[in-house]
Amino acid sequence: MIPQSFIHDVLNRTEIVDVIDSHVALKKAGVNYSACCPFHKEKTPSFTVSPVKQFYHCFGCKAHGNAIGFLMEYSGMSFVDAVADLATRVGMQVPIQQADNHPAETEFGPPNYPPEIDYESNNSISSNDLFEIMMRATKFYRVQLKQSEQAINYLKKRGLTGETASHFALGYAPDGWQNLEAIFPDYQSTASENTLLKTGLIVASDDGKYYDRFRDRIMFPILNQKGMVVGFGGRVLGQSEPKYLNSPETILFTKGRELYNLFAARRAIRQAGCVLVVEGYMDVVALYQHGIEYTVASLGTATTPDHIQKLLRQTDNIIFCFDGDNAGRKAAWRAMENSLPFLTDGKNLSFLFLPDGEDPDSYVSANGKEDFEALLKHHAVALSIFLFQTLSTNLDLQTSEGRAKLVRDAKPLLKHVTAPILGLMLLQRLAELSGVSQDELQNLLQIKRTTPIKKHPKLARPKPTTPYHWLIQILLYKPGYINQLTEFIITENGEASEEIATLNVLIDFLNNHPHITDGGAISTVSTYFNDSQHRELLEKIESETLEWDDAIDLESEFSGALAKIKEIQRKKRMTTLHNKSLNILTNEEKQELKQLSMPK
Ligand code: CTP
Ligand code: MN
Repeated sequence: MIPQSFIHDVLNRTEIVDVIDSHVALKKAGVNYSACCPFHKEKTPSFTVSPVKQFYHCFGCKAHGNAIGFLMEYSGMSFVDAVADLATRVGMQVPIQQADNHPAETEFGPPNYPPEIDYESNNSISSNDLFEIMMRATKFYRVQLKQSEQAINYLKKRGLTGETASHFALGYAPDGWQNLEAIFPDYQSTASENTLLKTGLIVASDDGKYYDRFRDRIMFPILNQKGMVVGFGGRVLGQSEPKYLNSPETILFTKGRELYNLFAARRAIRQAGCVLVVEGYMDVVALYQHGIEYTVASLGTATTPDHIQKLLRQTDNIIFCFDGDNAGRKAAWRAMENSLPFLTDGKNLSFLFLPDGEDPDSYVSANGKEDFEALLKHHAVALSIFLFQTLSTNLDLQTSEGRAKLVRDAKPLLKHVTAPILGLMLLQRLAELSGVSQDELQNLLQIKRTTPIKKHPKLARPKPTTPYHWLIQILLYKPGYINQLTEFIITENGEASEEIATLNVLIDFLNNHPHITDGGAISTVSTYFNDSQHRELLEKIESETLEWDDAIDLESEFSGALAKIKEIQRKKRMTTLHNKSLNILTNEEKQELKQLSMPK
């Protein structure tokens, strides 16, 4: 049996969008993702995945569940296999629990879904946990930074404040070959289970010994999208080579998937309405220090399709900032090529080329935030301009040979564009430049243009029919509200009895499972009700929260629902008391009736 705490950790570290997307291609639709449902046949997508709440729901066939449920339903895995599969993806190993430790079964959840959380029994997995190792190393490097005058001076020389260094959890890997041995006693274990080796923090030498990969370097922890450290970048203090050393590809870390600072920058990206992609760690750090926080960096690789998709999930506007030199233009071109297939209308890519010899770090440090943002605003060029500018370089468009070559070179690029309006605009521009009509171009390039798909108008949020229903919505969306529901008992009454019964069961469940309500955990509460008669209603109500986002004022929703329920309860009680004749009422009841009748 797998400890509940482990399942929670796995779910917390799992991105359901990625899990499902690797089986069923998802498209962004508002705050959620959608696709044609893999569980029933349909032509228009009604399968929805919520990145906020980490569950999926099909409005057609009512399939519903979390990442574990998806693998079980889609791949036919057993519960245990599904957990193990997800665990492997995030670099965890399912712990083997002693038979006598079995937590008791409850009525909820699929078989083997142990309901009792037990964080203590979890210790056995720590040493196996690659994330835990990365975290410990991060702490170690940070402590070392505080103790190294030389490293501190280097960062100061580069203009960083202590606050900035601490915001990025910068550290220092001291000189020496086996410094990490101090915090990892199994350091020299040669067995294949040497987890330290799996994290890439140590390297095996020819004589079978291990030594630290990072020595005498400033350490930049790289976090994945869940905020877990998955790798490091290490910069030398002086001039030696290589200037930057990165973690190798490991179970935790795939360079082409991660972006430096994406985790911390999410909010800023949303606020700014755009993300700035730069090349270097120091660029991100320096821009942050100057108040530009919506920045990420690719990790010494070209921008990959994965990167682009990740970014387009966060924002509609990506600005790439590259050096103005040849290498920078090449990098920009690669980024553009990799983006074309994923662009939908309304998504914008632009490119800013910095003056020769400058990078974002040097530029913002010399000129400040305003100046840098003015550059972004006025000198970033749109994708269409950049594309044709680059294609036309070295071509003489006065000659038919030159124009023919332009059409030829544009062909493979335009074919990758699936966004109808963008495609049309690029075609128009190509027609202007080449002097070939759009119709002829379409023939030549064999591009089929579909008419833009009309967007569904956003539905106004339907009001829940009863306040009980409303309260269930809120509790499912944010289980933490249970803590504000002290001494709350709702009595059955004829109408809405199913909702009241469900609400009571839900309240009872949340009260008894504090780990779900501690705020940190993303839990799809309905999964605990798999075998319960309330499951269907809970899943339905949970699906109604799919469109909810930060814009919802939960506080006032919660107090609104509560006030309504209290009002109904008050009226009911009054009726009960009124129906008794006055002389039967006890003194307390008379007092209560008086209280209840008083206007609030
Ligand atoms: N890079 C790398 N390995 C190298 C050199 C560079 O991984 N040997 C990556 C790093 O992510 C680095 C980025 O490419 O941040 C940009 O490299 P570069 O422009 O050379 O460095 P800067 O970011 O300008 O670094 P610094 O300002 O510290 O010199
Ligand atoms: Mn630099």
